[in-house]
Amino acid sequence: MAKEKTAYVCTECGYDSAKWLGKCPACGQWDTFKEVKTASPKVSRRGTSVVGAGVFGVENCEGGRVVRLRDVDTKAEERIDTLDPELNRVLGGGLVKGSLVLLGGEPGIGKSTLLLQTVLRLKGLRILYVSGEESESQLRMRADRLKPADVEAIGADCYILCETSLEKIYEHAREIEPDLLIVDSVQAVSTQQGEAFPGSPSQVRDCAVSLLRYVKETGRSVLLIGHITKDGILAGPKVLEHIVDTVIQFEGDRQNFYRVLRSLKNRFGSTSELGIYEMQSGGLRPVVNPSEMLLNQDNEGLSGVAVASAVEGVRPLLIETQALVSTAAYGNPQRSATGFDIRRLNMLLAVLEKRAGFKLAQKDVFLNIAGGLRVSDPAIDLAVVVSILSSAYDQPVKPFTCLAGEIGLSGEIRSVTRIAQRIGEAKRLGFRRIVVPRSNLKGLDTALTGMEIIAASKLQDALRHLF
Ligand code: TYD
Ligand code: MG
Repeated sequence: MAKEKTAYVCTECGYDSAKWLGKCPACGQWDTFKEVKTASPKVSRRGTSVVGAGVFGVENCEGGRVVRLRDVDTKAEERIDTLDPELNRVLGGGLVKGSLVLLGGEPGIGKSTLLLQTVLRLKGLRILYVSGEESESQLRMRADRLKPADVEAIGADCYILCETSLEKIYEHAREIEPDLLIVDSVQAVSTQQGEAFPGSPSQVRDCAVSLLRYVKETGRSVLLIGHITKDGILAGPKVLEHIVDTVIQFEGDRQNFYRVLRSLKNRFGSTSELGIYEMQSGGLRPVVNPSEMLLNQDNEGLSGVAVASAVEGVRPLLIETQALVSTAAYGNPQRSATGFDIRRLNMLLAVLEKRAGFKLAQKDVFLNIAGGLRVSDPAIDLAVVVSILSSAYDQPVKPFTCLAGEIGLSGEIRSVTRIAQRIGEAKRLGFRRIVVPRSNLKGLDTALTGMEIIAASKLQDALRHLF
């Protein structure tokens, strides 16, 4: 018989060690080690206790035999239409049957709301919604809130279950045979086969591995909710992302109503898709025209405002950047950015100082991307820089003008992707002038765009046309 042993496991990343450590050598977090009793000689890092024989997950492959790649059937995967255009798009065209999807996000962002409202809309599918966090009446109250008009219309095949034991969940699933199983959340459920306490990294991983096996064996779909830590690590152990087929993440400021659904990994589609929602009193509403919501209509003539024509994933978005520059009153100047990387802001300020000769070293700079949306598109650099200069010199940018361009370290304006799409979106929203990188002009028929195109290769070229 195996002797019981003690190991210490990092609750953040799942790293295990024979002795207690103050700082985890794998993820660098402090005070995260918890004692775990285990019957096996070593805490299994791959959750083999759940997978059984297949140490490398071989049983997930069909039949476990060798076949010629060209002989494999290429039947298109069947998808479930979620009746939510944003969710469908982020999933790559609907939920693939027999896939395990992880929906991550900070607590309170709206994960349960999104899945419950999706479930309420789906008719003709058997659904089992398992909640380890809320009671039946809480779920019903939320459902009423989401569908006040026609509660009676909740599908007869929509079942709820408040349970935290994975084995019991499977028992009920065998009975109900749901087409779609929702588990809210992976941190709340636990499996008897796993070691350690519920919510610990090894439990979370064991549950995910076990659910993956359920999905591949039954051909049904599972949507799994996972909370993310304050550092943005999905469900504690990063390992979870490797297990599931698709990872989608819900982001946004809780103070703000807008939520962005992003795909981080997708075995059945692209990861460049984006869904935008607005949290209302009756649930999440898809935002069809995000640019309209991100643009503040009445700031004409105000200094410190510039509009960027950005692309997030494959979606064009017009985004307003606002800056406030003022003389630093006390000692060190402050730099703060909302919705923009502070290091990038510091880099842009250094470029302005060194390459363009603007003296901003003694100024406080506050930057805000309107709508609380976090954008990663480097093409908004130009709008950020222009809004800073506009505020510093109290000069409003000419009306109906927007910008797209990445700023390089020597002050050059670098080319951006999808220029035609950016120009098209700006035109659609009533802009008449757009500043674009000169290097993007190749192959672009400027006469056809119906906009005044200002090509700039250096910051100074652009500024001449803006104020
Ligand atoms: P929830 O889905 O419980 O978040 P998560 O599952 O990610 O932890 O969302 C909770 C928040 O959403 C809560 O603060 C209230 C708000 N909310 C609305 O604004 N409108 C609604 O219709 C619902 C159901 C929730
Ligand atoms: Mg929840």
